[in-house]
Amino acid sequence: MKGIVLAGGTGSRLWPITKGVSKQLLPVYDKPMIHYPLATLMAAGLREVLVITTPEDSESFCRLLGDGSAWGMSIEYAVQPRPEGLAQAFIIAEEFLAGDQAALILGDNLFYGPSLGRNLAGLTRQEGAHVFAYEVADPSEYGVVEFDESGIVLSVEEKPAAPRSSYAIPGLYFYDETVVDVAKAIAPSARGELEITAVNEYYLRAGSLTVTVLERGTAWLDTGTFRSLQDAGEFVRVMEDRTGTKVGCVEEVAWRNGWITSDELVALAEPLRKSGYGDYLIRLASSANALPPTQPGANP
Ligand code: G1P
Repeated sequence: MKGIVLAGGTGSRLWPITKGVSKQLLPVYDKPMIHYPLATLMAAGLREVLVITTPEDSESFCRLLGDGSAWGMSIEYAVQPRPEGLAQAFIIAEEFLAGDQAALILGDNLFYGPSLGRNLAGLTRQEGAHVFAYEVADPSEYGVVEFDESGIVLSVEEKPAAPRSSYAIPGLYFYDETVVDVAKAIAPSARGELEITAVNEYYLRAGSLTVTVLERGTAWLDTGTFRSLQDAGEFVRVMEDRTGTKVGCVEEVAWRNGWITSDELVALAEPLRKSGYGDYLIRLASSANALPPTQPGANP
């Protein structure tokens, strides 16, 4: 399975902030936003990732993330010329995927929770499609999933005025290798977009959509408005200050996955020392209490 981070869009709900800079490059406390979803894919063990951006912002993302080799991975780039829907990501990624399965994460979604990486790693061989359900106060802003007591999905709807459940579908999706064909088969919605919910509905009709309710205590934050962006930054700051560990630290995940050595981690840390970020990485590499590098599944 390969990973896709979708970091397109106009960010118009954050104007004027995002008039001059891509939303997914904005800071969420001590890192650029895109580091968080990238760390989530990495924690699932995905080493080959395609970052899809607007044409204008592509260069900035390349400068930030490079080709991934510093973190023992491979990062490629593609552009989405116009915001024509999340599902278009699979059509754009067709060559990159080359017949492989795909995990898609939205560049403005932040996940944090117990054993999340390990649980996600179990989904990287997929039959059909797998989505998550997360209870929220106002589901009508999201894709909404309805399911019965045995976990069978009954319906998925995009931003319904009258939601059939209080469970939103977060922006992290796992699909089998047919997803490119599915994305090509669906029709654009009334707002002219290839909706991810239409992809999920397709799998639902085929009897191959499964759902996991994210465990209580898991944080799923999106960062699309002034308030939610500030909330996400506060969340990360509070967690990091209290525990002394970082949330969404790509260098740490690469090291825990065994993709880079402790020496390589220290080398990455050196240029980051002025901000204190590098000191954290050096502490990790030298701490006797640090978990030794393990397989994919360590919490980001
Ligand atoms: C998109 C999807 C929606 C999903 C949400 C998660 O909505 O269309 O189904 O629940 O992401 O963040 P957007 O926020 O792009 O309008």
